[in-house]
Amino acid sequence: MSTAVRPDSRIDAERHQGKVALVTGAASGIGRGIAQRLAGEGMLVACLDVNGGGIEETMGRIGEALGDDGRAISCTADVRDRAQVRAAVEATVGVFGKLDHLVSAAGLVTMTGFDDLDDEEWDRVIDVNLKGCFLVAQEAAKAISDGGSIVNISTIESDVVVSSTGHCQPHYNASKGGVRMLTKALAAELGDRGIRVNDIAPGVVDTPLTGLDLHAPEAWAFMEPRVLIKRLGQPEDIAAAVSFLLSDDASYITGVHLPVDGGWLVR
Ligand SMILES: NC(=O)c1ccc[n+]([C@@H]2O[C@H](COP(=O)([O-])OP(=O)(O)OC[C@H]3O[C@@H](n4cnc5c(N)ncnc54)[C@H](O)[C@@H]3O)[C@@H](O)[C@H]2O)c1
Repeated sequence: MSTAVRPDSRIDAERHQGKVALVTGAASGIGRGIAQRLAGEGMLVACLDVNGGGIEETMGRIGEALGDDGRAISCTADVRDRAQVRAAVEATVGVFGKLDHLVSAAGLVTMTGFDDLDDEEWDRVIDVNLKGCFLVAQEAAKAISDGGSIVNISTIESDVVVSSTGHCQPHYNASKGGVRMLTKALAAELGDRGIRVNDIAPGVVDTPLTGLDLHAPEAWAFMEPRVLIKRLGQPEDIAAAVSFLLSDDASYITGVHLPVDGGWLVR
């Protein structure tokens, strides 16, 4: 496996000084990595998730790393629930005075194939991954002003089908294909207000999402021929790209679908 340098090795503690971000899915995995990275770069971060205990753990890590408990707040909310999301946006503005950025990382996958997929499971995955993304963006955009930015987390599975379990997950593919196109629509819709909207498509990232053991030899045997960078993706890889897209370095980038996948989509 590659031992090349990871992107969290050079952090500019002032990159996002004075800015405020709402990060969904912040209780685990990629969302937690994003919250930690942004806070480490001076951002004030509202951590939204349905898992309150997980948010506390994220906030504890941020407080410990920065020696400051005031850099993050906890917003326990379900991204499918408009009233809860609205309350989270209001709490963020209430505590930090404004909202500059939104990162939508809340999501789930179930590994059920086409023949066994029932209505309830289809609706749950579409509702969290796609409707949740829409709903949070709509509520957050009311508070975000000119110069702000939104990053949605899609997946390479909005480009290709990855059948690691032997069958595909059509509900997950459909939900994330929707996120990809929602991103473009919102970029078009919010451009006049000076708000940029992009999505990042992770490859396989080392988080609890799938419930599969990504460190098992058979998991690497599946991945190895597909990735050009010979290691598993880490939340830090995604967080680094999010930090860039939220920053002024990306001020002319909107409507982009950016794979951060170790080269999975190349062939
Ligand atoms: N891990 C990967 O390999 C991978 C690859 C491509 C895309 N993604 C995407 O990245 C995002 C983050 O996934 P992860 O790998 O960090 O998974 P994860 O399971 O570690 O984190 C997902 C978080 O979303 C939260 N969540 C789920 N449903 C929610 C709801 N209704 N309301 C609020 N929060 C909710 C969970 O509580 C959890 O904290 C997801 O959108 C996922 O589809 C992950």
